[in-house]
Formats: sequence, C-alpha cells, structure tokens
Amino acid sequence: MSLERAAALVAAARHVVVFTGAGMSAESGVPTFRDDLTGLWARYDAGNLATPEAFHADPDLVWGWYAWRAARARAAEPNAGHRAVAALEAAIPATTVVTQNVDDLHERAGSTAPIHLHGSLFAPRCVGDGAHPAALIDAEEPDEGRRIAPPRCVTCGALVRPGVVWFGEALPEAALHAAVAAAAGCDVLLTVGTSGVVYPAAEIPRIAARAGAAVIQVNPDATPLDAVSTVNLRGTAATLLPALVPA
Ligand code: APR
Repeated sequence: MSLERAAALVAAARHVVVFTGAGMSAESGVPTFRDDLTGLWARYDAGNLATPEAFHADPDLVWGWYAWRAARARAAEPNAGHRAVAALEAAIPATTVVTQNVDDLHERAGSTAPIHLHGSLFAPRCVGDGAHPAALIDAEEPDEGRRIAPPRCVTCGALVRPGVVWFGEALPEAALHAAVAAAAGCDVLLTVGTSGVVYPAAEIPRIAARAGAAVIQVNPDATPLDAVSTVNLRGTAATLLPALVPA
C-alpha cells in the first residue's frame, strides 16, 4: 500500500531529489567508512585516518588507506537501486541525485551528474593549488594495511590528497549550495540508505519537507528522518527502488 502511494507521488512529480547514503551501496558490497577499519586497518581509528591533521602527520598511511578504499569501491558494481535511480532520471529529467557516498556507483549506473556532498575517492587534489590531477589514485595497486606515498602535484609539487571531506572540514560550497537549492525546489525527495544524523548533509531532506515536498524514505531500519517522511518504506534500496520508477 505505502509502496503504491510512494510510486504515485513519484509518477506525479516534476522535480525529484534522490538523497543517498551508505545504505545505497550496501548491496554492492561497498564497505561503510567504519566497516573499512577492519583487518590490518583495525588498529587505527577515524581520527588517525580521516582528518587533515592525520594526513599532515602521516600522509603515506592516510593515502594508503584511501587507495585501499578506492580499489574496493572500483571492484564493486552498481546494484539494482543505483540503476533505478538512473532510470528515474531518464523518466523525469528534472531529477537531482545528491549523495553522501564517496564511491562512483551512481555515475557508473548512468546518473549524469550526482552531487557529491562528501567528495569522491576518485577526485584527488593538490593541497597547495587545489588542482585535480587526473586519476593519480590509480597509480599503485594497494595492499591491505600498506602505506603508500601520495603523488606530488604536477604544477606546484605539493602533496596530492584524497578528494573527500574529512572530519572538521567544510563541505564543498558549490555542491552544498546546489543540493540545498534542489531540495528547496523539489516536489518529491527520496531519502535512501542514510541514517540522517551527519550534518549539514542531513539537512537536505528536512529542507525539502519544510518547503512542502513529499519525503519518501527507503531504509530497512527506523531513523530520525521517520519524523519528516510522508511515506516510510522499510526495505532495501535494491529491492524497493525499481518499483518507484514510472513505467
Ligand atoms: N538499503 C537501504 N538502506 C540501508 C541498506 C540497504 N540495503 N543497508 C543499510 N541501510 C541503512 C541503515 O539502516 C542506515 O540507516 O543505511 C543507513 C546507513 O547509515 P550510515 O552508515 O550512518 O551512513 P550515512 O547516513 O551515509 O552516513 C553519513 O557519515 O560516516 C560518515 O561521511 C560518512 O557520508 C557518511 C556520513
């Protein structure tokens, strides 16, 4: 019943926002941030690996961990949920995908321009001039637990860092601005696979709700976003999202 109601809301929408988190990629086998702190990485914690201070103190350790995460994400394939999100964009061209994920599975499923609020494993940049040296993260195939020296910027010689948002850092301004504008102007927002507790990203579905949009949540578990959701679909992204794509 609620699935039919959700599908009807999507079918009638002119502008849809799909807001995704780690649960979106769970069925592709992409480990969450915390799940990647296993095996030989288990002796570190997020504070050793995902802060500007950690990179400054031990760039080889941090680069090695991100190279490892990037290799694991590269080995994963988009799931039926990612493909449904891309199909939704084909059916409703004014669809904006806003993701907190640093993998590239939305792009590889066919979404044209997902907004990456927390950056990307595949967009390393120079700490000096901010340039994006192409695909340098591919340079060495990482082993678990292995330190790897980060490359140097071809222009200024400074270290190249992972293009993700670390603890204590601001979100990329243009991405956040575009996501807020899309949320404020949509008729339907789908929130998929996110716990909705990490701010400011977690404001996105709340902004849509305040602006009068219908919020549809896809998550097997309860979250704080239950409170702003018009329809709560308790299940996984890969099983439920295909049923929401207009025929
Ligand atoms: N389909 C849909 N939802 C799922 C699935 C699935 N197959 N599997 C798990 N979930 C849900 C969980 O119930 C949980 O609510 O996905 C959510 C994942 O929550 P988090 O791990 O907190 O991930 P996310 O919300 O993306 O975290 C936000 O925090 O770790 C930092 O920067 C990182 O971008 C991340 C941010």
